[in-house]
Amino acid sequence: MRPVQAPFPATRLRRTRRTPSLRALAAETTLTAGDLIWPIFLTDGENVEEPVASMPGVARRSVDRAVEAAREAADLGIPAICLFPYTGADKRTADCAEAWNPDNLSNRATRAIKAAVPEIAVMADVALDPYSDTGHDGFVRDGEIVNDETVEALVKQALSQAEAGIDIIGPSDMMDGRIGAIRAALETGGHEGVLLMSYAAKYASAFYGPFRDAVGAAGALKGDKRSYQMDPANSDEAMRCIERDLREGADMVMVKPGMPYLDICRRAKDMFGAPTYAYQVSGEYAMLMAAAQQGWIDGERAMMESLAAFKRAGCDGILTYFAPRVARALAGRAA
Ligand code: PBG
Repeated sequence: MRPVQAPFPATRLRRTRRTPSLRALAAETTLTAGDLIWPIFLTDGENVEEPVASMPGVARRSVDRAVEAAREAADLGIPAICLFPYTGADKRTADCAEAWNPDNLSNRATRAIKAAVPEIAVMADVALDPYSDTGHDGFVRDGEIVNDETVEALVKQALSQAEAGIDIIGPSDMMDGRIGAIRAALETGGHEGVLLMSYAAKYASAFYGPFRDAVGAAGALKGDKRSYQMDPANSDEAMRCIERDLREGADMVMVKPGMPYLDICRRAKDMFGAPTYAYQVSGEYAMLMAAAQQGWIDGERAMMESLAAFKRAGCDGILTYFAPRVARALAGRAA
């Protein structure tokens, strides 16, 4: 038999790209509504939906409107929403007591959503930054963030969320030892079914700016978060954080931000095989929206491409402000 040789190429990789059906057959990953977690901002009041200026298309919602949003998400096949309360200066104190108030905004929203839309999973952040007068995720003493006392407060916050009926707790504070402490408190407190999604590889990032506007932390924050959030230069350290958090009892791990850290997602998935999520954060959303509004990129396609990248990088799901828009697009409905 004579070997295949020129004048034609032995391998024509373009064949599987020829038509939409062949491309569908050859697709290695798919994005579905089931991959999405929708972050929602909360505010006090009734019937309120106020736009966040730096995040076009995103609003802060009162509890009643958040319930409607949860219903819409469930109808679109989005499995989970994540709650972020806006807290004004009046409720920010040095002791952060509002964080474990059973009737704080986040806990009220959790109860209302679980009562009205029981099938949707509700997630909330554990961290003190919505409640601290310094805007930091932990207590500050002599200019330092104190670790172990902060962890005690985070445990109280997590337990109050569990009492309110939360499904997934997302510790986003980056203190050492908080996953083990929260897991122990949940086990002994009768909440062994509550999941922990650790913000395990969370970087000190410039991409959180619009979020801090949305939750009222921008003006409050004194200094930066580099003594607890990770240095963007590091990758081995992220693997050590993830390994530790899984050992301490995390069910799922998160990489944050998303798009600039896809290498971390891939490495984490390959190394641990745990349920792995990425947070496409506020600054990433704002960048894409701003360029689309200028007409410099096709916003719809850029949104889809950016989310497909997370699946390709090994993520099991994505926290994204685009969630309802993506889910509508995937269902073939108008935005
Ligand atoms: C708070 C928290 C932040 C985000 C999620 N939880 C901000 C921060 O760490 O300063 C950012 C999310 C986003 O930018 O979309 N611990």
